[in-house]
Amino acid sequence: MCDENEDLNKRLTKQLLDCEEEKKDNLDTWTYALKELAEIQDAFKTDENENINLHEKTILDVGTDALKPLYLALKFEPSKIVGINNGVISIASEIETQSKLLTKTKIGFHDCNFFNEETLKKICEQEGITDKFDFVIISKTLHHLRTKECIAKKRDPKHECTEDESSCIYGFDEQEIFKRLLELGKRIVVNEYFNATETDDDKERGQGGYFTTNEWTKIFTHLSENYKVQLVRPKWLHFGKKESHQIESIIRQIDTLCFYVEKSDSNKP
Ligand SMILES: C[S@@+](CC[C@H](N)C(=O)[O-])C[C@H]1O[C@@H](n2cnc3c(N)ncnc32)[C@H](O)[C@@H]1O
Ligand SMILES: [Zn+2]
Repeated sequence: MCDENEDLNKRLTKQLLDCEEEKKDNLDTWTYALKELAEIQDAFKTDENENINLHEKTILDVGTDALKPLYLALKFEPSKIVGINNGVISIASEIETQSKLLTKTKIGFHDCNFFNEETLKKICEQEGITDKFDFVIISKTLHHLRTKECIAKKRDPKHECTEDESSCIYGFDEQEIFKRLLELGKRIVVNEYFNATETDDDKERGQGGYFTTNEWTKIFTHLSENYKVQLVRPKWLHFGKKESHQIESIIRQIDTLCFYVEKSDSNKP
């Protein structure tokens, strides 16, 4: 009997602690989103010293947390923000509804995988988006858009790729992904966290795993050779072909990068 009580006590204590942990996680999500948006917002500028003006602008948030769109709407009132995410976000519909009382920005969230072009096209039609979005934000989500063959398999031929294989890491196809992103929006705002010593908790199969130094070098080489690239964080720096070698030393000193990519004047239609 005494043992049973002790067991019950332990279980209840654990449940209570889990509950507290979950509440803290929920609160952290709101405060992190606020902090991150403060770090991303300069990417809406073209010149470091200008004021941000998002009036009449449209924004697509890929892999949305629903919170950055809310903060953006409250502060800058763009005309429309569409957020897509692979899976439903519990607070999304409440934010969509309640925000109508606080901002003129129309916010629409949809359960949609970035790779599902048909669904995304329908969502854009439904949301009345006839032209490209002015901005596409992709925050802490770029490394989930891995589509190339498994890097683990290339490294170790004995590695077996299965559907639920947690050790798979697919390669990242910067050419295809940025081509597609720039079909959707005029400016792509990327915010990426990476840390070689940490595991990516929400990696799904081979889609996920933070970018390595080599991957960043490949990405920035491709982008600087083909597009206009502006680094926003850790410092405001135009990233032309001449600057692309600097990426290695920059990413050694930090764990978050924010930059934007646009078609350069020569490849704009
Ligand atoms: C690390 S979270 C980042 C969330 C948010 N953007 C932020 O800055 O905190 C990555 C999000 O991307 C979503 N995601 C991953 N792959 C996706 C895909 N192919 N299409 C749409 N969303 C995707 C996941 O569901 C997850 O919500
Ligand atoms: Zn694999």
